[in-house]
Amino acid sequence: MRLGFIGCGNMAKAIIQGILAKGLVAPEDILASNTTQAHADATAAALGIQATTDNTRVAGESDIVFLSVKPQQYESVIDQVKDNLHECQIVVSIAPGKTLAWLSDKIARPVKLVRAMPNTPAVVGEGITTFCVGDLTTPEDTKIVKELLESFGLAIELKESLMDAASAVGGSTPAFAYMFIEALADGGVAEGLPREQARTIAAQAVLGSAKMVLESGKHPAQLKDEVCSPGGSTIAGVQELECGAFDGTTMSAVQATVAKARSL
Ligand SMILES: NC(=O)c1ccc[n+]([C@@H]2O[C@H](COP(=O)([O-])OP(=O)(O)OC[C@H]3O[C@@H](n4cnc5c(N)ncnc54)[C@H](OP(=O)(O)O)[C@@H]3O)[C@@H](O)[C@H]2O)c1
Repeated sequence: MRLGFIGCGNMAKAIIQGILAKGLVAPEDILASNTTQAHADATAAALGIQATTDNTRVAGESDIVFLSVKPQQYESVIDQVKDNLHECQIVVSIAPGKTLAWLSDKIARPVKLVRAMPNTPAVVGEGITTFCVGDLTTPEDTKIVKELLESFGLAIELKESLMDAASAVGGSTPAFAYMFIEALADGGVAEGLPREQARTIAAQAVLGSAKMVLESGKHPAQLKDEVCSPGGSTIAGVQELECGAFDGTTMSAVQATVAKARSL
C-alpha cells in the first residue's frame, strides 16, 4: 500500500509518525509534498520517507491520498491534482468543514472519498480520528482506512451530519487540553512548585483522568465526586472553576470551533 500526503505540516507529520511507529507501511512507500524543495528535503530527512514538491506525483502514485494542506488551500490543490486521480484510489480529506459533497463537486470525477478529522496526539499513538465515507467507498475500502487510522489511536465512523461537532471535540481538544495543563502548572508554580515538575504532575494527572473516563465506564461527574471529599480542598477548587464558568466556557469554545470550521 502506497500512501501520499499532499501537504506535510504538523498534522500529516503526526499521522506519518504514528503509522511508521506501528510499522503498518514502510517509509519508502510514503510520499509527501511540500511547497519548497528545502521543506521537502527536511520532511524526507526528519521522517525517512520520500518527499517532493510535485503534488501531481503524489496524487498519481498513491493508493491512498491524504489532502493535508490548510482548508483555504484545498480548492487550488484539488484543481491542480484532480486529473491525476483515478477511481481505484481512496482520497482522504482531513480539513474541517469540507463536506463530502463539496469534495466530490471540486474533484469532479468518481473517486472513493473519506472525510476524516484526526488530531495531533496521533504522533504518540493516542489520536482520535472521526470519519465518514462517500458513496463510492466500499466496505473493504472503509476497513482499510479504519485500520490505517487505528494505527495511531482510536478511529470512529460517524454519520456526516455529526462530523463538525466531532471534529471540534476531537481535532481541537488537544489545544484546549494543553491550555488547561499549562494553567494547572502555572497554579502549581504560583504555589512554589518548580516549573518542570509542575508541568509533569499536571500532564500526568490529566492523562490518568482521561484513562479513568475511558476505562472505568463511570460518568465523569461520578469520578469527579469521588475526588471531592465533603468539606475538602478539591471541592473548594471545583467551586472556583464553577465561579469562572468553566463548563459554560468550554461548551462555548466547542460551539465557536464548530461555527468557524463551517465557515472555512
Ligand atoms: N494541526 C492539527 O491539530 C489538525 C488537526 C486536525 C486536522 N487538521 C487539518 O490538517 C490540515 C493541515 O493542517 P496542519 O496543522 O498540518 O497545517 P500546517 O502545519 O500549516 O501544514 C500545511 C502543510 O501544507 C503544505 N502546503 C501548503 N500549500 C501547499 C501546496 N500548494 N502544495 C503542497 N503542500 C502545500 C505546507 O508546506 P510548506 O511547509 O512547504 O509550506 C505545510 O507543510 C488542515 O486542513 C487542518 O485543518 C489539523
